[in-house]
Amino acid sequence: MTHPFKLPPLDERLSAAASLVRNGAVIADIGTDHGYIPISLLQEGKIRAAAASDIRSGPLNRAIANAEKYGMTEKIRFFLTDGLQNIPLSDLGVTDIIICGMGGELISEILSACPYVQNENIRLILQPMSAVEALRGYLADNGFSITEERLAHSNHKLYQCIAAQYDGTTHAYTPAQLLLGKRIIERGTADPLFAPLLEKYIGKTQREYAGKLRGGANAEQTQMLLHELLQIAKEKGFDRDEHTKIL
Ligand SMILES: C[S@@+](CC[C@H](N)C(=O)[O-])C[C@H]1O[C@@H](n2cnc3c(N)ncnc32)[C@H](O)[C@@H]1O
Repeated sequence: MTHPFKLPPLDERLSAAASLVRNGAVIADIGTDHGYIPISLLQEGKIRAAAASDIRSGPLNRAIANAEKYGMTEKIRFFLTDGLQNIPLSDLGVTDIIICGMGGELISEILSACPYVQNENIRLILQPMSAVEALRGYLADNGFSITEERLAHSNHKLYQCIAAQYDGTTHAYTPAQLLLGKRIIERGTADPLFAPLLEKYIGKTQREYAGKLRGGANAEQTQMLLHELLQIAKEKGFDRDEHTKIL
């Protein structure tokens, strides 16, 4: 039966994350809050079923209420829990795990507490609000390979979405690759959000570098990062002033 209510389109951030989910997946959306990702993907028919969890009952109840409103309660199992703990991922046949809207360090902690994610068939879809370099560093050091990366622009902010899969080998990234993503750098200005992202980090690193010099702190690593970022800008050949307007 078709349900009368259709969820309005996801914003660019959630939509970029949802686009990384595989067709026919069974997802676990960790820290679901409003539950928009599972509801939207179910309504679209892109996924077969979903688990949705949150550590707090307020957000989880919001997701449950939205699932009722949009007629998706039968296809979503809800869990009040910390991270991936106590979710029967294997029994539910979860293939794609989504963790969006949390800090990169918290996302790393959630992953490291769950051995189930060390499986080549599981896709992780991660959207850190901060410490993106720490998250990429965690993935690189712990046997996860980054398979896709997307940029999104929403509410005057830029977001990075990362898809990763366990392959058991460690990966090495340069400081700029940790910050911007190797795949995002490779795609370069083909993505209109690349230049504003690079510009944002150049500005931030310049301020950090100047602050360290003023305070007499060791600025060597910041200088190396700045040099690498400026080198990327030069190689990609864009006019830096032109691309600062979006943010
Ligand atoms: C900013 S909201 C993001 C909601 C949604 N994922 C999004 O991206 O729009 C973060 C959510 O994660 C939940 N959360 C924080 N720490 C968590 C944890 N350790 N395990 C599960 N959920 C957590 C919070 O309660 C909150 O609902």
